[in-house]
Amino acid sequence: MNERTTDPTQIDFKAKFDLSGKVIIITGGCGLIGRAFAEACAQYGANIVLADIEAADPAGKAKELEARHKRPMLGMTVDVAKKDSVNTLKEKTLEKFGRIDGLINGHQNKTNNFFQKFEEYGEDNWDAVVETNLKGTFLTCQVIGSYMAEQGRGSIINIPSTYSVVAPNQNLYKGTSLGCPAAYSASKGGVEALSQYLATYWAARGVRVNQITPHGVWNNHEEQFEKNFANFSPLQRMSYNHEVAGAAVYLLSDASSYVTGHNMLVEGGWTAW
Ligand SMILES: NC(=O)c1ccc[n+]([C@@H]2O[C@H](COP(=O)([O-])OP(=O)(O)OC[C@H]3O[C@@H](n4cnc5c(N)ncnc54)[C@H](O)[C@@H]3O)[C@@H](O)[C@H]2O)c1
Repeated sequence: MNERTTDPTQIDFKAKFDLSGKVIIITGGCGLIGRAFAEACAQYGANIVLADIEAADPAGKAKELEARHKRPMLGMTVDVAKKDSVNTLKEKTLEKFGRIDGLINGHQNKTNNFFQKFEEYGEDNWDAVVETNLKGTFLTCQVIGSYMAEQGRGSIINIPSTYSVVAPNQNLYKGTSLGCPAAYSASKGGVEALSQYLATYWAARGVRVNQITPHGVWNNHEEQFEKNFANFSPLQRMSYNHEVAGAAVYLLSDASSYVTGHNMLVEGGWTAW
């Protein structure tokens, strides 16, 4: 959508945000932020494909979404780190909807030993985090992004982290059981680099590749953590999953037709000072 005009009165700006008729795959779509992406995009008219592991019940969640919005949705059990599984995701989506317009990579692997100390971090633990977070994003971009490039249109949103932009302030975790493992930062740093690469690699083929960086999304966190967080945050509080979702609607819609290679920080100004 690139109307050749300098007259903004000819533009229906509201319609530009409309996602009706668009098919959007959301990996990790049953997670904290993934389900906010799904609900927001569904409210803007999209058909959603929830792609998540079996334990998250993507099929059941998709049925709920379908009933709420009275529009076909799809739930798929997927392991993003397995190419066969991602191929099946693409094929089943095309079988049901005949098109794919958007992809949000909202998956992450919080392993059992996720918060292990750096000095003791097990190789298996490191591999599991990097495999899901980074290789999983590579595979979905390769399989689904290549389809988009063939079609000459599509929008991809990858999710890195504040901790691929800056280092974690270790004081944030004082008095809590939480932390941020290096494997997470490193995997997300890779997601950021991959996204920038693909933004220019596919720009001429009509595929836009952007990123959303959420931060401190509240999920019944320990009280001490919430207090610490407020002290370090310019907006002095944690965020809510629904506050991240508007960025996805924008980046998937025609309203952002000239935006690619962008990392939209939804982090309350965390990296601004
Ligand atoms: N929550 C935050 O504050 C925050 C901050 C910055 C970045 N992020 C990033 O945003 C994204 C969403 O975060 P969240 O808080 O919703 O996480 P979450 O843990 O609630 O959701 C992640 C989802 O990914 C799914 N998943 C795990 N392994 C998978 C696999 N192999 N294949 C497919 N799906 C798989 C999980 O089942 C889960 O539903 C993640 O990439 C996360 O790193 C989150």
